[in-house]
Amino acid sequence: MISKNKTTMLCILVLMLSFTNLNAAKKRGAYATKNIVGQDYYLSKCSSCHGEGSRGGNMASIREWKELFSKNAFELKDLHIDDEETVNVLKYFNSDDFQKQKNDLLDFLQEFAYDSENIPTCN
Ligand code: HEC
Repeated sequence: MISKNKTTMLCILVLMLSFTNLNAAKKRGAYATKNIVGQDYYLSKCSSCHGEGSRGGNMASIREWKELFSKNAFELKDLHIDDEETVNVLKYFNSDDFQKQKNDLLDFLQEFAYDSENIPTCN
């Protein structure tokens, strides 16, 4: 018969092992952003069409994102111009909100640009 003490030890061991596994999975998988604010803007303004969280950044390189946001986001506006669905996106690009949010949004997108070190997760 296994003593109570041994059972407790076994439980602790199993717990420790599962935590180690969790940590390992975290290191390889999801990478949490440094810019939660920018991520929020992305999730509310872009993710409905361009995918969840870190995936959107993958649309362009770090330099391309900078360019897309330069000259008053001229290129970004141009990319969303011909669709009825994107009317609201255009409104956003022309709004004061965008002026306030664009630095964080750009920072977040560049963090996950396809030439950044952070590989977007699949979920
Ligand atoms: C209502 C849907 C919608 C929303 C919301 C939206 N987009 Fe788009 N976006 C499109 C469509 C449609 C295109 C053009 C077709 C395409 O290439 O996917 C596009 C193209 C792009 C492109 C060109 C790259 C590519 O894959 O063609 C970029 C970059 C982009 N969008 C960034 C953004 C950003 C940043 C936001 C948030 C501020 C945003 N979009 C919000 C629909 C949307």
